[in-house]
Amino acid sequence: MLTLRVIHTHLLLWLLAGAVGSGDYREGYDRKDFETRSEALDLTPGIPIQLTDRATPLGLPPSVHSIDEKALALGRELFFDRRLSVNGTVSCGMCHIPEQGFTQNELATPVGVEGRSVKRNAPALYNVVYLPELFFDGRETSLEQQIWAPLLAINEMANPDQGSVVRRLAGIRGYADAFAEVYADGLTADNLGDALASYQRALVSGNSRFDRWFFGGEANALNELEQQGFRVFREQGCAACHAVGREAALFTDHGYYNTGIGYQAANRERTRSMQIAPGVTIPLAEPVEVERESDDGLAERTGRDRDRWRYRVPSLRNVALTAPYMHDGSLPTLAAVIDYYERGGSADPQLDAWILPLDMDEQERRALLGFLAALNGDNVAALAADARSVQIGDTTHGG
Ligand code: HEC
Ligand code: HEC
Repeated sequence: MLTLRVIHTHLLLWLLAGAVGSGDYREGYDRKDFETRSEALDLTPGIPIQLTDRATPLGLPPSVHSIDEKALALGRELFFDRRLSVNGTVSCGMCHIPEQGFTQNELATPVGVEGRSVKRNAPALYNVVYLPELFFDGRETSLEQQIWAPLLAINEMANPDQGSVVRRLAGIRGYADAFAEVYADGLTADNLGDALASYQRALVSGNSRFDRWFFGGEANALNELEQQGFRVFREQGCAACHAVGREAALFTDHGYYNTGIGYQAANRERTRSMQIAPGVTIPLAEPVEVERESDDGLAERTGRDRDRWRYRVPSLRNVALTAPYMHDGSLPTLAAVIDYYERGGSADPQLDAWILPLDMDEQERRALLGFLAALNGDNVAALAADARSVQIGDTTHGG
């Protein structure tokens, strides 16, 4: 048995060191004497936090949604329950991992039921409550409706239809009662959407050091380098799309632009090497053609040729935690993103007019990177610990 003190010390260490960030600690992964830092789940029991009725954090606009506390708690449980997938293997939280910025740091494009690959990078879910349009092509506008995309996609959770999800949940002891406690009409497809949306709307994260400096007037919240980085960010035109307002900043104007990534992905060279373990790559004798699902971006929704390879501008809040980057996860680090913009994107003739080769010296590059790393919200570790307060794999509603 663990004593309470051990658990407390453990939680503290876990929160301080590495609870949020990339996945497993990987230095020396390829050596025989490598020791993992991963913890057994019973050593990371999680700490629930109050997610409703909070004051709007510095840097974010007020939200118009009020969230029901019980619906939120139910939604949090559902979000981490693998039994929402057709064969009980994949939960929402496996592609949107709380300790990895509610995205997945290990894979450019995540893997769903039976190892099938999804074509896009999993977006971080912080501050989704502020997004008028969801997905990289904006094809969905409501969080309540959005859930059916992953729940029914053959390469995500692979359920045949809405009814089968509702019937499966109804067969799990406890869920029918839990829904009845929150909703007058109990367990329905709409209420499943409402519960999951309630949890996701609470994943609000602001009050970064940038916010305290820019909106809160705390002169020393950003160091010299980071302040210079913000100037570079504006001078180099980044803020034209990753917008910063007077009272709040979502670092997106909610628009769709072609930064050249789609063109680059479509014209990528044939694969000449293969990663067989993290950090371990072997050259291939013959280059191989990797089969890729095509991705036309906004054009998939509008059908217009000029919208090909235009993607929604992602927020840059918590961006240091959400590698890899871009809609296909093709850029592994923030430094790689900055290099990409510095080169002026790709050779796509339909590039947005704002995407031009940049003129930055080494100092400015470092400053920009420092600035991007100062956009982490103050509650990311608390949100991850809160997520882990859910009993994973069963117990409360054991079926
Ligand atoms: C197999 C991995 C996977 C699973 C499982 C998964 N997602 Fe996602 N999620 C993604 C990917 C990839 C995208 C981006 C898809 C796109 O833009 O076309 C996404 C997008 C989203 C978005 C839109 C965010 C934005 O910025 O527009 C939300 C919200 C979301 N997922 C919530 C959920 C919920 C709720 C569940 C469980 C019901 C879930 N996801 C299950 C991979 C996954
Ligand atoms: C013309 C509008 C525009 C400009 C200007 C712009 N961006 Fe972007 N940015 C985008 C779009 C659109 C994406 C998503 C592209 C994709 O997914 O393929 C993006 C993606 C990113 C990402 C990846 C975020 C993620 O979560 O994957 C980062 C980081 C970023 N931009 C930083 C910058 C910086 C720094 C600058 C200035 C040097 C800049 N951007 C200039 C539109 C723009």
